[in-house]
Amino acid sequence: MTKILKFIKPYRVAAYIALILMLIELSVELLQPLLIGKIIDEGILNNDMSVVLYWGGMMLLLSLIAFFSGITNSYYAAFVGQNLGFSIRKKLMKKVQSFSFTNFNTFPHASLITRMTNDVTQVQNIVFMGLRIMLRAPLLIIGSLILAVLVNWQLALIFLITIPVVVIFLVIVMTKGGKMFRSVQQKLDTVNNVMQESLIGLRLIKAYNRRTHEVKKFMNVSNNLKEQTASALRLMEAAMPALLFIMNVCIIFILWIGREQLQATNIEVGEVVSIINYATRMTTAFSMFSFIIMAFSRARASSERIVEVLEAKIDLEDEEDGKSLEQLKGAVTFEHVSFRYPGMSTYVLKDISFHIRPGETVAILGSTGAGKSSILQLIPRLYDPTEGAVYVDGMNLKDVKMDDLRKRIGFTPQESILFSGTVEENLAWGKSDATLSEMKAAAQDAQIHETITDLKDGYETKLGQKGINL
Ligand code: UTP
Ligand code: MG
Repeated sequence: MTKILKFIKPYRVAAYIALILMLIELSVELLQPLLIGKIIDEGILNNDMSVVLYWGGMMLLLSLIAFFSGITNSYYAAFVGQNLGFSIRKKLMKKVQSFSFTNFNTFPHASLITRMTNDVTQVQNIVFMGLRIMLRAPLLIIGSLILAVLVNWQLALIFLITIPVVVIFLVIVMTKGGKMFRSVQQKLDTVNNVMQESLIGLRLIKAYNRRTHEVKKFMNVSNNLKEQTASALRLMEAAMPALLFIMNVCIIFILWIGREQLQATNIEVGEVVSIINYATRMTTAFSMFSFIIMAFSRARASSERIVEVLEAKIDLEDEEDGKSLEQLKGAVTFEHVSFRYPGMSTYVLKDISFHIRPGETVAILGSTGAGKSSILQLIPRLYDPTEGAVYVDGMNLKDVKMDDLRKRIGFTPQESILFSGTVEENLAWGKSDATLSEMKAAAQDAQIHETITDLKDGYETKLGQKGINL
């Protein structure tokens, strides 16, 4: 959580403003019971209308101040929360883009999507709530306690017994709730995973008439999510009545002891009313707590999941002193290269050595699964060889800046992929500043120019994700 809170730093001024406004609101809330006590003891009991009007007016004025502080506080809290979400998502996106294939094994796509959307939203919410009410609840409890002691310390003693009981109770609920909400987020991952898979395989599912099967599978994981969320929420809901019960018992004791003291006439009615007022305010604050705990538990689980991504170790990274590549002649050398995919035990390449001269055209032949694509993936360093080394122009790939290397390699994957955007944008993928005539020339070379001009808007035709509308 603390690691995530660092992201607030650029917006700390707004956060401080929100906190100050929250403190103003809080002060008014804490002053009100005192003023009520004053109105009763000095105004109503003394039959002095001017005192009632004066302090009543003061209360109205203070309430107005609190009201406007509250609205402005909301504005700043939302500002900080939204900006924080934006920064985290940006950082996550950058990190994910630098992931190697091994990292994607640890973080499946669906899980990354949940982390970048739902988990960030949870954190965003807790920051908003934090600036809006989270601190207010504990401060309201502490402030009420202090002021209650000042008003009448004997009556306030009851709080000293009740509050620790409530706090211990809340800590237990919080620990349990945290675990449960972490599991909720994992279940949400699974739902997204199943959803994504069935969307990707849509055509196959229809062709094989597997719709009912897919729906059943989805219902199953969706049901798990529902159950887990429900039991986590139930725990929180159950905490509420227990809390109210303890606080109401506390109020009954105050009334009882207050009555005894009133009879002994060493206390004024207004004082008892103030203390009761503080007790009800504490009750509200405590019940706010169970809500806060819920959001906090979720946000804590979410921020751990975000930090996991941000701190994931990337196994394919540039060395500190990576050489930049200005020109490339194009000599490729494999030296005793053996390779197995991360996490696999069998080698797909074993002790491969060859040298390709610049300008030479080489074809690699082999049966399916022989390892042709695997050899090629080692050249733009999509993976590192498990043993041995790959060289371009005599330089070990590990010593070369990865961006420079990849910029100089044209790569046509076995499985063609189109991105959502126009045909033109897809063509410019390998060279962002390509002119239209360059693109047309390339399209003609690839014998696809006619096909493109036959499309509705030619080169401007919009393609769906993965070129689904082609
Ligand atoms: P290749 O994908 O390199 O084989 O997989 P290939 O020669 O190009 O095959 P075709 O002609 O395109 O079909 C080599 C071995 O590596 C495994 C494959 O299962 C295969 O046994 N492999 C491939 C993985 O274990 N993980 C991968 O991500 C890719
Ligand atoms: Mg292949």
